[in-house]
Amino acid sequence: MGDSLISKRLNITSRVRDYEVSFVADLRKALGSERLSGAFLIIDADLPGAAAIKKLFTPNRVISIKASEKSKTLEGCTVLIKNLTDRQFRRNDCIVAIGGGVIEDMVGFAATILMRGVEWVFCPTTLLAQADSCIGGKSSINMGPYKNLLGSFYPPRKILIDLAFLKTLPEDQIRSGIGEILHFYLVAGQDKLAQQMMSGYAKYLKEPEKLQSFILKSLAIKKAVIERDEFDKGERLLFNYGHTFGHAIESVSGYKINHGQAVTMGMDIANYLSWRMGYIQKGTYVHLQKILRFNIPLFRPSRAQWPRFCEALSKDKKNIGKALGCILTRGPGKMFKAQIPMDGPVALIREYFTERRV
Ligand SMILES: NC(=O)c1ccc[n+]([C@@H]2O[C@H](COP(=O)([O-])OP(=O)(O)OC[C@H]3O[C@@H](n4cnc5c(N)ncnc54)[C@H](O)[C@@H]3O)[C@@H](O)[C@H]2O)c1
Repeated sequence: MGDSLISKRLNITSRVRDYEVSFVADLRKALGSERLSGAFLIIDADLPGAAAIKKLFTPNRVISIKASEKSKTLEGCTVLIKNLTDRQFRRNDCIVAIGGGVIEDMVGFAATILMRGVEWVFCPTTLLAQADSCIGGKSSINMGPYKNLLGSFYPPRKILIDLAFLKTLPEDQIRSGIGEILHFYLVAGQDKLAQQMMSGYAKYLKEPEKLQSFILKSLAIKKAVIERDEFDKGERLLFNYGHTFGHAIESVSGYKINHGQAVTMGMDIANYLSWRMGYIQKGTYVHLQKILRFNIPLFRPSRAQWPRFCEALSKDKKNIGKALGCILTRGPGKMFKAQIPMDGPVALIREYFTERRV
């Protein structure tokens, strides 16, 4: 990876406000040169290196948050907003958020509703946040048992990506980010690029900071789509490829299987259905499975888990009436929205779990 990539920038056009993504060689220096040290810092409490970053900010303007699904709630956001207000946060102040998707969702949501919208800057620290969630402007908050039920579209003014954060990321988190990158590539018809990344899989698990060109490509694919369909009305919905089945896997495993790997298995299931329903040849299914295979988790719903798996599918937000709403494929780059009576896919998914192996 040449140093030249470090200076890469992306400008995103948005109906809320245009914003910019920059790769930076050293976040602490970048925060200084962007004159952000006077801002309010909201940072993942467990982030390695957090102490050194906090020193750059006024102590009274630093808030640490435990990044967990339990804090990503209305109550969690209310506490955060009260905390900012108690510290004399003013309308013209800016928030700098540093962390993964949980911190992004919490700060993005709080920034939308606090004083009807305040400025924020996001510095993503996980692979998933750097390669996917940092652009698109979505925030999603949990309510009771409902994951990501509440939310808004409100992008940060700027996104600063420092790849060095990836060096401390647990391997499970890297596999998760790779799953999301794979899904962008296949939706965009970039199966060769996916193959190229997966040929270095073992190396990238050890040195994820070397994934920059793949992260950049993933963001470029997402940018093109969100600029055409910012508010999820049509084309952007194709990014749900692998997600219907992935969410059911995550949920049935009690979230022991990370999001991106569940999505990788979800893509394999979508491809299997596409083959068995006649949309692709077996050869295409096998080709795609060979790309995905190292990132597919070892998971098969037990007899006891099977009804819960089917129930999770039946509750998917994309379902219409009794039909399962999901994204199927006619080949890489040719994903399409499908509504299928529930019995058909359920029988085929059962078959998938019995037969799966290239
Ligand atoms: N807003 C969106 O568009 C969007 C998109 C996808 C996912 N999400 C949400 O993102 C959340 C998942 O986010 P995530 O996968 O980025 O992880 P996360 O924010 O949940 O963090 C995962 C763990 O990694 C730790 N961590 C973060 N950065 C680290 C680093 N550099 N080194 C070591 N540890 C680090 C955190 O402390 C935490 O324990 C979910 O709640 C999901 O719903 C949001």
